[in-house]
Amino acid sequence: PSITFTQPDGTAQRLEVEQGTTLMRAAVSNGIDGIVGECGGQAMCATCHVYIRPEYADALPELGADEDEMLDCTAAERTERSRLGCQISTGASLPEIIVDIPAGQV
Ligand code: FES
Repeated sequence: PSITFTQPDGTAQRLEVEQGTTLMRAAVSNGIDGIVGECGGQAMCATCHVYIRPEYADALPELGADEDEMLDCTAAERTERSRLGCQISTGASLPEIIVDIPAGQV
């Protein structure tokens, strides 16, 4: 699968990852700016907040209760495209995805 991270300035980085890799894990292991993953993927920090491009919305897992709660605590504004990067894995149902990294999330 591939994940493309787009920075607020428009710079895009495309990563090839193993099946099942979460967006957060991929970003952290590849030094993508703007995704910290402070809690290690437990839906408890919101430093992995991303905006999912609408064309991928249907392929996403449902929003979990913890995730929903944390999304109210993000540094950048929550929108209907907001998800936690640690709760979204690539795989058979999501072979590629493009996400936008919120501004001001260091
Ligand atoms: Fe902490 Fe996703 S890594 S909420």
